[in-house]
Amino acid sequence: MTSKEIRSAFLDFFKDKSHHIVPSAPVVIKNDPTLMFTNAGMNQFKDLFLGEATIKYPRVADTQRCLRVSGKHNDLEEVGIDTYHHTLFEMLGNWSFGDYFKKEAIGWAWELLTKVYHLDKDRLYVTIFEGDTSEGLARDAEAFSFWAAHVAEDRILLGNKKDNFWEMGDTGPCGPCSEIHYDMRPDDERQQVKGQDLVNADHPQVIEIWNLVFMQFNRLKSGVLEPLPAKHVDTGMGFERLVRAIQGKTSNYDTDVFQPLISFIAEKAGIKYGENEKTDIAMRVLSDHIRAVSFAIADGQLPSNNKAGYVIRRILRRAVRYAYTFLNFKNPFFHELVPLLAEQFKDVFDELYQQQDFVEKVILEEEVSFLRTLTTGIQRFENYAAQQSVIAGDFAFELFDTYGFPIDLTELLAREKGLVVDMDGFQKALNVQKERSRAATSIDTSDWVLVGEDEEVEFVGYDTLSAKTQVIKYRKVSTKGKEQYQLVLSVTPFYAEGGGQVGDTGVLVSETGEKIAVTDTKKENGLIVHFVDRLPTQVDVVFDAQVDAQKRLDTESNHSATHLLHAALKQVLGDHVHQKGSLVSADVLRFDISHFSKMTQDEIKAVEDIVNEKIRENIALKEERNVPFQQAIDMGVTALFGEKYGDYVRMITFDDTFSKELCGGTHVRATGQIGFFKIISESAVAAGVRRIEAITGSKAAAVIREYFELFQNVKELLNNPKDFVSAVGKLVEENSSLKKEIENQIKERSLAMKKELEEKFEVVNGVNFLAAVVDLPNADAVKTLAYALKGMMNNLFLVLGADIEGKPSLTVVVSEDLVKEKGLNAGTIVRDLAKDIQGGGGGQPFFATAGGKDVSGLQKAIARAKSFVY
Ligand code: ALA
Repeated sequence: MTSKEIRSAFLDFFKDKSHHIVPSAPVVIKNDPTLMFTNAGMNQFKDLFLGEATIKYPRVADTQRCLRVSGKHNDLEEVGIDTYHHTLFEMLGNWSFGDYFKKEAIGWAWELLTKVYHLDKDRLYVTIFEGDTSEGLARDAEAFSFWAAHVAEDRILLGNKKDNFWEMGDTGPCGPCSEIHYDMRPDDERQQVKGQDLVNADHPQVIEIWNLVFMQFNRLKSGVLEPLPAKHVDTGMGFERLVRAIQGKTSNYDTDVFQPLISFIAEKAGIKYGENEKTDIAMRVLSDHIRAVSFAIADGQLPSNNKAGYVIRRILRRAVRYAYTFLNFKNPFFHELVPLLAEQFKDVFDELYQQQDFVEKVILEEEVSFLRTLTTGIQRFENYAAQQSVIAGDFAFELFDTYGFPIDLTELLAREKGLVVDMDGFQKALNVQKERSRAATSIDTSDWVLVGEDEEVEFVGYDTLSAKTQVIKYRKVSTKGKEQYQLVLSVTPFYAEGGGQVGDTGVLVSETGEKIAVTDTKKENGLIVHFVDRLPTQVDVVFDAQVDAQKRLDTESNHSATHLLHAALKQVLGDHVHQKGSLVSADVLRFDISHFSKMTQDEIKAVEDIVNEKIRENIALKEERNVPFQQAIDMGVTALFGEKYGDYVRMITFDDTFSKELCGGTHVRATGQIGFFKIISESAVAAGVRRIEAITGSKAAAVIREYFELFQNVKELLNNPKDFVSAVGKLVEENSSLKKEIENQIKERSLAMKKELEEKFEVVNGVNFLAAVVDLPNADAVKTLAYALKGMMNNLFLVLGADIEGKPSLTVVVSEDLVKEKGLNAGTIVRDLAKDIQGGGGGQPFFATAGGKDVSGLQKAIARAKSFVY
């Protein structure tokens, strides 16, 4: 079977068992502070497990792109070195939400593996949870008995909490699990050592392929396991490992998932795969990392200097560094893998194919800049190594952190020079950084305190700005030392930050008259969370929740204007324009798009004209809730990459032929409400991404008034000229010719002064000496004079003082012969003399200057100068 067939067979199998097939969620996570990237198929269903959303389909299956490169599940350092870990991998999964449980999950897994994929039963082993007394959990006897119906009992192994109790993160849904392992060793080896002994023992040929999790608990912050409202099944099968097992390969990279990439790399490098461990590792790293980097970018996470963006940048740099060092790619190469990958995933994860040019461009730019850093880093290493006998941990860390050198590269470079790296020191520096970043991002959240029934929350904010409501639960959060409370309300008109639109603020007024300010509203998974600075004295009463109406209206104007802007940009710039970020607040709207060049004035004007025309048309909002997703797509709606859409979507239309978007935000009733639209800036944010900032309505009016007044004021200063631009032009011209004239005059004065001073030199101890205060207006003029005098004679020691706009300055000149012969040093002398003017300075042995605070000291300094030639 090809990998494509293997993937389809999985989905078809579960479709036959009444599973609803859903698309993969984006790999970049929104609305979950505990997670940066999707690390398991179940992430997108977290709400369903926790009972925070309604279950529409009790049985679901999919293939989910996952990234395990940060947090609890992190395989990055293994990738490429071994043959079965990946940064981005596909997780095939089937789920039961409160529907079937262990028996079916186990039975179907066995059926699929042995009857559809025809895996060798003799090579399959399963594990079950042995129980854990500290958690008060018993051995999973149920799972054991269901397995016993299919496999011999000596193939059912017990596993501990680490291997057989699966948790999504430090908190969240979890439960005992049962893993399926496959032994791919040749027969003779299998006869010598039993497969049983190698399960979960890091043997590269005896590997886990499928994990069946029986979700029953929610791990609370306090560590307590709270039973979930219902029992669920969550399974995850590593697609690349499965393909390897079915295709009978000894490495994931030998399957048709990776071979096209590996062959391409090998050909371009002119090196064969499979001949040398070092170059093989490099090829594996490249063929793996391009997947993580490309899909992260396609899903909206650009490489950057912080958080998720930094994780992606580090993966990219790891790949470029391997390419550079081991495959001799000294020029950007990594991006060339994108088209191949896009083609490979065309019908599976189409996002990449549709944004291929953009992704390629972003990677190329990153490569170019990193290769520059890499060269600098290697140079730094060379300089350092030339002077040291050991590579200090701190220095290795600097190379790691600033120049992206993985520690093994530094070790390699060191070894080539017969040096060693202080690994303990490196590890220490690394830990310090880890701890620092943990502390910087740490959000301490207490467990929820339940006040009312934990029911599903009703959002009424599309239709009203106030509602009677009750607190369902609350908890305390401290972010960087600031303490706040979060409330979940039974009914809420507050819009939670999302789709770029900021969260609502407002007030909760209790029936007892107490007022609590809501400072922000955010989503956490599906939950709407209100931020307040203090808890109401009485929590279990009825509240009137009131949204700040003016702020909401201004925000809505900007949100609707953003939709008009999006459509206008596509018209003016072309269809390659995709939304890459958006911020909609009451004051301003910010919109990032994929576009490769700076917008011209004409393009900006054209976009503004279209938007303003649509505003004047006063187009009524068409809001359709609960449109089936496919129907919306067929109607030509704009869906965004990196966004997770449900089966039913909300569609926002302003003129059927103009703007149709999938959007959860709030909008004006008709475009006329926006009033007026003005772009205030257009700039670059990253390679291939432009940022547009604009204002609308009363904000735009205020800014235009301000500009108009500014213009009026300047015009009046110029006596209201008829032709303003040429009047300013004339002013600039006049100014520059006046400047020139003054400069000429100063020059003339310096020359006259030079003549005068030449006469005043005296010979002291055989040295041509002069010290004088001169009347010149700026430092340049003094310098010109000093150099002119220096050019006149050898054996010269000259000190000039000047009062430059109330500040004293000293200039010391020593001719080169005196520097050499008498060891006079202008720098030292000027520093000494500067004491008289309460200042300091320095320079070179033949020319130095100093500035100070006390003009009255100038004469004293000049008088003291002679002492240096005695
Ligand atoms: N959520 C389980 C895992 O990721 C299936 O292993």
